[in-house]
Amino acid sequence: MKISLIGSGAWSMALASHLARKGAEVTVWAHSEEEARRLEKERSLPAFEGIIFPKSIRYTNDKEMAVSGAALIVFAVASPFTRKTAESFAPFIPCGSKVLTVTKGIEEDSLKTQAMILTEILPGAVIGALSGPTHAEEVVLGLPTTIVSASEDREMAEFVQDVFISDAFRVYTTPDILGVELGGSLKNVIALAAGMADGMGYGDNIKAALITRGIHEIAGLAIKMGARAETLQGLSGIGDLIVTCASVHSRNRKAGILIGQGMSMKEACSEVGQIVEGVYSAKAALALSTKYEAPLPITEEVNAVLFENKDPKQAFADLMLRDRKMENNFRPEDLPECWRHDSSR
Ligand SMILES: NC(=O)c1ccc[n+]([C@@H]2O[C@H](COP(=O)([O-])OP(=O)(O)OC[C@H]3O[C@@H](n4cnc5c(N)ncnc54)[C@H](O)[C@@H]3O)[C@@H](O)[C@H]2O)c1
Repeated sequence: MKISLIGSGAWSMALASHLARKGAEVTVWAHSEEEARRLEKERSLPAFEGIIFPKSIRYTNDKEMAVSGAALIVFAVASPFTRKTAESFAPFIPCGSKVLTVTKGIEEDSLKTQAMILTEILPGAVIGALSGPTHAEEVVLGLPTTIVSASEDREMAEFVQDVFISDAFRVYTTPDILGVELGGSLKNVIALAAGMADGMGYGDNIKAALITRGIHEIAGLAIKMGARAETLQGLSGIGDLIVTCASVHSRNRKAGILIGQGMSMKEACSEVGQIVEGVYSAKAALALSTKYEAPLPITEEVNAVLFENKDPKQAFADLMLRDRKMENNFRPEDLPECWRHDSSR
């Protein structure tokens, strides 16, 4: 079975290696001819020191050749390139094709998720998303990983599950593609905050707070947009948030650490050297927060630090001293009488 991966970054190559080890016929499209030739020759990426990819993987820069005859087409380019790349592939993707996104991010102008962009550009395709707490550095080594295959089309979600599942890569399914994509995209913004806290020398207490309050604000927005609460409590919600806020592999956290240590957003992104998608999703998240009237206090402060040069120390102080409130939004009828009235605290 031919599987085509569009993009040749860390995540694409980790998935390509996994699929090749499973025996699939894998073709990777690189966005330059030069990179396709380099990959063919060296079978490696700087992100994975000492790792050589399986010999069976093919590389090309030819779009038609990349996707022709593919049983599954996987879009794995960084989110700012998804629209342009999908548009350039559209003439070669026949109606009815199965198209999967493994990219995380919300488009700044349209506020669309990756699957929404692909649905707009490829209206005849069957679309799915695969997302969860998954660092490429571990998947490429075959370390145990879990992930969620999401599609409104059950056959598609289960097809993707069949294609990817192995004893080292457990794949769950869900129809809640919106919840899966929002969890995967919005957590990158919280990871920037977690990194800033680390960079300023803050401790485990604030990390735990950012994870729990972070999922609270992500879920608040996602549910208003139509996602299921259970999804945000799952692998692509709290699971992905935990891994990204705690891991040494997270580039959003890395960028946050540098900002916490005094760099500007631009300096930090250039030091990380890869696309820091939380920076792109931060603005989009704020616009969604306004549109859906869902407060995102952590995301708001991250935006102020990234785009208004606010001192991260001040941002955290402002978060700590924001309006007093109850931890959870219980329904009034579930509360003891003396707790029912809004005391504005
Ligand atoms: N790295 C991980 O551990 C991981 C895990 C899960 C999901 N993801 C998601 O996968 C996506 C890609 O991440 P990555 O780690 O592979 O990033 P990367 O920086 O390693 O790769 C960037 C990707 O963008 C493509 N690209 C760069 N410039 C381009 C251009 N001008 N036109 C078209 N394509 C271009 C490259 O081919 C490559 O596929 C991101 O959305 C990320 O959130 C990454």
